[in-house]
Amino acid sequence: MPVGAIAVIGAGAAGSGIAQVAAVAGLGVTLIEVNDAAVEKGLEEIRGNLQKLVAKGNMTEANKEAALGSIRGTTALEDVAPADVVIGR
Ligand SMILES: NC(=O)c1ccc[n+]([C@@H]2O[C@H](COP(=O)([O-])OP(=O)(O)OC[C@H]3O[C@@H](n4cnc5c(N)ncnc54)[C@H](O)[C@@H]3O)[C@@H](O)[C@H]2O)c1
Repeated sequence: MPVGAIAVIGAGAAGSGIAQVAAVAGLGVTLIEVNDAAVEKGLEEIRGNLQKLVAKGNMTEANKEAALGSIRGTTALEDVAPADVVIGR
């Protein structure tokens, strides 16, 4: 089955990393956390990681923006619905 979209529950160390790799690979990602601050913390971690790749010349700014644009942060568990695969502990 082709996978076009995933959902990741938890945007801590593991979840944000999984979301980042999936987004860079071209998947749509729904990143779910317990509150808005935790969502933003996870997204900020990903932004920082991708910015480092750009700074090192390992990623273009356009690809960084495309990856960030494919991640949707949310606190609503029901937003897993469109995902082909759900990743959580
Ligand atoms: N960090 C790693 O390198 C690593 C490696 C292998 C396995 N794991 C496993 O991955 C899991 C997460 O580890 P981690 O290091 O990312 O922990 P973490 O504490 O950094 O992140 C966990 C996140 O999950 C969120 N969370 C908890 N309950 C939630 C819920 N009901 N809905 C949405 N979000 C929720 C928390 O707010 C937190 O931000 C653990 O089971 C751990 O054993 C982690």
